[in-house]
Amino acid sequence: MTGREPVTVLGIETSCDDTAAAVVRGTDIVSSVVSSQVDLHARYGGVVPELAGRAHLELLTAVVGDALDQAGLGRRRPRIAAVAATVGPGLIGSLLVGMSEAKALSLAWDVPFVAVNHLEGHLFAALLDHAEVRWPVVVLLVSGGHTMLVSMEGPGRYRRLGATVDDAAGEAFDKVARFLGLGYPGGPAIERVARDGDPTAFSFPRAMLDEGLDLSFSGLKTAVVRTVERHPEAANEDVAASFQAAVVEVLVAKATRAAQSIGAAGICLAGGVAANGPLRGALEEACAELGIPAYLPSRAMCTDNAAMIGAAGAWQLLHLGPSRLDVAADPALALPLLAEARATG
Ligand code: KG4
Ligand code: ZN
Repeated sequence: MTGREPVTVLGIETSCDDTAAAVVRGTDIVSSVVSSQVDLHARYGGVVPELAGRAHLELLTAVVGDALDQAGLGRRRPRIAAVAATVGPGLIGSLLVGMSEAKALSLAWDVPFVAVNHLEGHLFAALLDHAEVRWPVVVLLVSGGHTMLVSMEGPGRYRRLGATVDDAAGEAFDKVARFLGLGYPGGPAIERVARDGDPTAFSFPRAMLDEGLDLSFSGLKTAVVRTVERHPEAANEDVAASFQAAVVEVLVAKATRAAQSIGAAGICLAGGVAANGPLRGALEEACAELGIPAYLPSRAMCTDNAAMIGAAGAWQLLHLGPSRLDVAADPALALPLLAEARATG
């Protein structure tokens, strides 16, 4: 992919509620360890930022040690080219833990530090499993905090095609799941319950379906709430299945339109919602109709992990160089787009 010797990089990811470390060689995963904090936050119905930061502090050293052990590198002075960590977007207290650890390790081991954008990491996730990708591809990035359609012309070359004007798709899954009492995280809970439901039981709105490449999910969430208030007897299974069908239909329609608009060579899925089975199936069908490949990351690479951060960091190190050690964590960091100056830190 890069045309240069792949480099071995330790990646660290702590932007939200997963404490993760991985060793990658270019886009090959050598080891990948994810310690989820789901149990810690489940009883609060969502991520509690203070608890997340503290848990990262407790877990990270062991998670990094496991990733190095599993890669057969040893913990004292591993033979790696750099340490890469997510510096944003995400929860500030959580970002600081991973970023500080990465900077400290880079100093201790005398190797460069690479500051990685979490969203760019998600875009690299599809490449970890599909080194054969041809450009340009449309990436449908659907996570808990973001929903975007990106034209990716190659690593580091992104154009924004559309985005949600309100809630992210994952946020809609989480809010509807909480409303239905299905717990946290919402996406997997809705998918599980929806398996026994009728996706045509309720006809929920498909906002902006026929207009452009932007998306909207807040009306859908409100429609679910109103429907359940009006039909208290409605089975959760049917509501969940109908809600999921609406989200999937809109996402696939927009990704298809985006691919046609730029003559894309394929469509990639990225972000936590990309783990959703019905979305993966529907996107594969749509791509088959368009006659282009669907590049689906493995489910483990859809949700937050450090392999995608290591892969983005390895590319960045080779093409943009290392980052400075005084880079600050940025909770609102945006995806670096073409035609905008790119700070390498
Ligand atoms: O990318 P991610 O792990 O973290 C962020 O960067 O936000 O995405 C988390 C989001 C959550 O909203 C979660 O409910 C959703 O991804 N998600 C899913 C599934 N697995 C995770 N949504 C639908 N179906 C799933 N199977
Ligand atoms: Zn993420």
